[in-house]
Amino acid sequence: MTDEPPGGFLTLGDLEAAGAAKSARDVWEFVQGGAGAETTLRGNRDAFYRQTLRPRVLTGVDRIDLRTTILGTPVAAPFFVAPTAYQGLLCADGELATARAAGAAGLLAVYSTLSTRSLEEVAAAAPDGLRWFQLYLQPEAGVARRLVERAERAGYRALVLTVDMPLLANRDRQLRSGLAVDTPAPIGNGADVHSPPRALTADGGRFLLRVDTAATWEVVDRLREWTRLPIVVKGVLTGEDARRAVDHGASAVIVSNHGGRQLDGAPATLDVLPEVVEAVGRDAEVYLDGGVRRGSDVLMALALGARAVGIGRPVLWALAAGGEAGVARLLSLLEVDVATVMALTGRTTVPAIDRALLGAPRW
Ligand SMILES: Cc1cc2nc3c(=O)[nH]c(=O)nc-3n(C[C@H](O)[C@H](O)[C@H](O)COP(=O)(O)O)c2cc1C
Repeated sequence: MTDEPPGGFLTLGDLEAAGAAKSARDVWEFVQGGAGAETTLRGNRDAFYRQTLRPRVLTGVDRIDLRTTILGTPVAAPFFVAPTAYQGLLCADGELATARAAGAAGLLAVYSTLSTRSLEEVAAAAPDGLRWFQLYLQPEAGVARRLVERAERAGYRALVLTVDMPLLANRDRQLRSGLAVDTPAPIGNGADVHSPPRALTADGGRFLLRVDTAATWEVVDRLREWTRLPIVVKGVLTGEDARRAVDHGASAVIVSNHGGRQLDGAPATLDVLPEVVEAVGRDAEVYLDGGVRRGSDVLMALALGARAVGIGRPVLWALAAGGEAGVARLLSLLEVDVATVMALTGRTTVPAIDRALLGAPRW
């Protein structure tokens, strides 16, 4: 049985619908849900709706070049696969399918500590692919350090330290659907990155994740002692924290509210991007994720100073809809859409996407 519409997956919406049809309900709620009243989840999309673009015309747009660099490494387009846990819940190959598709497309992909495949298996699935490792700092320094050393050995090119999850937020949909209790996903990076599922019933899933709740900015200093890999801090929403990350040696920051899955009430990432870009200046790269679904979203974020944007849920939709082929399709749909919007706004190269592209907000 296939849920692929006649003519194939033509839009991200097609992938989402097919993914929903093929996934168990609890898994789908886990993917789609956010924290609390899901205000921040919706806010990420609303911010893109509010922004407008100021197109220039007759600039000669027969050739569009999507290429850019991320921390100095060439990539085919200014977007990347954001880290998402448990990809094996969406398709059997899980992260391996993502790695193959992203590697073939020449795009950066970031892999979660909570991957269903080990970081070494992921690396072997696409040896030439550009990959970063996302770290949830474990309470025991030894566990975290071993993960960092494994990632460095396996050819991951940066460490992404996620800082917006000192504990798991209240996620109403997830709690009700019971995924955390009933579906203990196998964790490829070892049992010590994860609590046993039985810990969940008492506390509503809050301690599914093992993170160092006591962590302060010193963890960034500690990481720098453990590894020569560049450090990317994911989950900052203020200029102050972005500046702190850079002062502690981060090479980049990701403006992210975890796709609306952590602090409900946090601002839309697009809305706080300018303050982060200003605080960081030329000292680090800035990326954004949260609600990026279209080429116009990518251009808006780049025009506001992001170097690249991360894609979260759509990759999971694509995995569920069609595994590796689904993700390959998603990435090419996004590439075509970005190129189309560049042509329609008169920009033929990524560096030409500047602030002059931004129009007045719609309201
Ligand atoms: C199901 C799911 C699992 C996620 N797991 C992780 C994770 O393990 N580590 C992490 O840093 N971010 C995780 N995220 C957050 C994403 O990296 C990213 O910030 C977010 O999904 C971007 O928003 P979008 O889904 O609207 O594109 C997860 C997001 C989802 C939807």
